[in-house]
Amino acid sequence: MQKIRVGVENQPYDIWVGNGLLDKASDWLAPYARDGRILAITDSHVARHIAPRLSDSLKASGITVSFFELPAGEQSKCWSKLAEIIDWLLDNHVERSDHIVALGGGVVGDITGFAAHIVKRGCGFIQVPTTLLAQVDSSVGGKTAINSAAGKNMVGAFHQPSLVVIDPDTLATLPRRELGAGFAEVVKYGLIDDPVFFDWCETNAEAFFAGDAEARNHAIIASVESKARIVAADERELNGTRALLNLGHTFGHALEAETGYSDKLLHGEAVAAGMAMAFRYSVRRGECPAEDAERVGRLFHS
Ligand code: NAD
Ligand code: GLY
Repeated sequence: MQKIRVGVENQPYDIWVGNGLLDKASDWLAPYARDGRILAITDSHVARHIAPRLSDSLKASGITVSFFELPAGEQSKCWSKLAEIIDWLLDNHVERSDHIVALGGGVVGDITGFAAHIVKRGCGFIQVPTTLLAQVDSSVGGKTAINSAAGKNMVGAFHQPSLVVIDPDTLATLPRRELGAGFAEVVKYGLIDDPVFFDWCETNAEAFFAGDAEARNHAIIASVESKARIVAADERELNGTRALLNLGHTFGHALEAETGYSDKLLHGEAVAAGMAMAFRYSVRRGECPAEDAERVGRLFHS
């Protein structure tokens, strides 16, 4: 198991990465179970594929977990689902000292974190990301949000999780298309933070997609280490460092808006297209060699 510290000022926290961590959930979740109970948010796909593993592993230690289940998909990151989550937490007597578990992808993580930020004037939360995108990006750094009529992530808060637990084995059930969308965010760290890691992505993409455990773990750990470093340097995106994480996102968000935040274009796919566009735009402005833009385009097409 690998432990990575996110050194933010007020509430530093750990990210644990390890195969099989979900099946040992009582080891890391027991300290957060008040009266032997955990409240968790998930979505309909994760409820089928992953949630039973969490419940079973906790049951052995006498801990019960109650789930609120969102319909899977970006459309759930909205006001009405936020209100339903808040009502459910209050019906279940949530306390400020509680830690709500977000079990799922970026949609579940973003809305759970925001709900935790506002319910009872703020309680804790734990990220247990189950998509590649959430494991390498959205579960780390404390950006939480829902979408509104004005656009994506327009309503939200910075609210850091108390713990992030990443079990790469959860990717076994993730559809190939979702894996590809998450890989865009992996490549992003090579582009903004670590040229050697970009070379690694080019060389190892095939092994990664074939399911090679070592390649997957390396991609996740290197990405999380990058993100932890960047977030610690600029937690609230005030000095420009964290803005690097938004590479390609201006183009990407425009593409997502045009496709109605639907599964016509996944967030990670929009980011991949957006990064390729950003490189081409930089070539046109004379700020980037054409061969760099070609290299980025080639990796995303492969
Ligand atoms: P998602 O949460 O919609 O998950 C993608 C799909 O995979 C869903 O259908 C989900 O049900 C399914 N799924 C999840 N885990 C699975 C598993 N192990 N097996 C089978 N199916 C599984 O999408 P995402 O790509 O994880 O996240 C995208 C969201 O994250 C967007 O809303 C984006 O704005 C947000 N985001 C936030 C940050 C941040 O810093 N907070 C960063 C990047 C992206
Ligand atoms: N995904 C962008 C950020 O965390 O800042």
